[in-house]
Amino acid sequence: MEKFVETPQVKELCKITDVMYRKGWDERNGGNISWIMDEEVVKPFIQDMPEGRNVELNFNAKELANSYLLVTGSGKYFRNIIEDPQDSLGLIQISEDGRSYTILWGFANGAIATSELPTHLMNHIQRLKVDDNHRLIMHCHTTHTIAMTFSHMLDEKEFTKTLWKMCTECLVVFPEGIGIIPWVVPGTEAIGKLTAEKMKDVRTVLWPHHGIFGAGSDIDETFGLIETIEKAAEVYTLVQAQGGVKQEISDENLSDLAEGFGVVPRDGYLEVD
Ligand code: 13P
Ligand code: ZN
Repeated sequence: MEKFVETPQVKELCKITDVMYRKGWDERNGGNISWIMDEEVVKPFIQDMPEGRNVELNFNAKELANSYLLVTGSGKYFRNIIEDPQDSLGLIQISEDGRSYTILWGFANGAIATSELPTHLMNHIQRLKVDDNHRLIMHCHTTHTIAMTFSHMLDEKEFTKTLWKMCTECLVVFPEGIGIIPWVVPGTEAIGKLTAEKMKDVRTVLWPHHGIFGAGSDIDETFGLIETIEKAAEVYTLVQAQGGVKQEISDENLSDLAEGFGVVPRDGYLEVD
């Protein structure tokens, strides 16, 4: 099982967490990732597996029974993952009854999975119902998006439209818009349930004054989604600092864009005749 560290999946996770840290999205232990592993990835390593530690879950993840997930550890710094992945990352398997998980690899110095694991699992369950290619959840503390949750009204339609209008291709990347939940204590069942409710319709949910929670089929898609939203929030910040909007991308322009790129904007968001 030691060799699991050499899999492309662990390497990819090391690379992306380093990029995220350098972008300033993951100060200290801020942020967490979970990635559902296909059985073929894990199988070659299973026979060398030592008896792993078992950790109770405070909710029932029965719908993911026996699934393997590569996850970041609670309290682990994204800055350090690339140097010592075995310490900060873990491969876990959800138990048959969904009430616990076993650590098969990693978390070498006694760590356990992220405190947001129940939220990740609830949202994996939700997204898999919508899209069976779904595999990845990423949470991070994107600076400009957090800032916008103080200065912009927290209305999903208004927030989404502001972002769509900050960079031309935003609408193409997240035509379904973004979800927003109220402020909630991190790591709770409540934050998981509220987020999963939103994830029926969207792949990204803002946690006001905290960060962003995104879902996708792989690292590129999920990171790209968050990166695009954060870029739009950064442009918004600069536009506000430069004195505000003098001319804009109109609803009409967005409608033409949607047609040109073959995407369907969230119903009722654009006002066009
Ligand atoms: P963990 O260190 O437990 O992953 O928590 C970090 C975080 O960002 C909570 O929302
Ligand atoms: Zn967080």
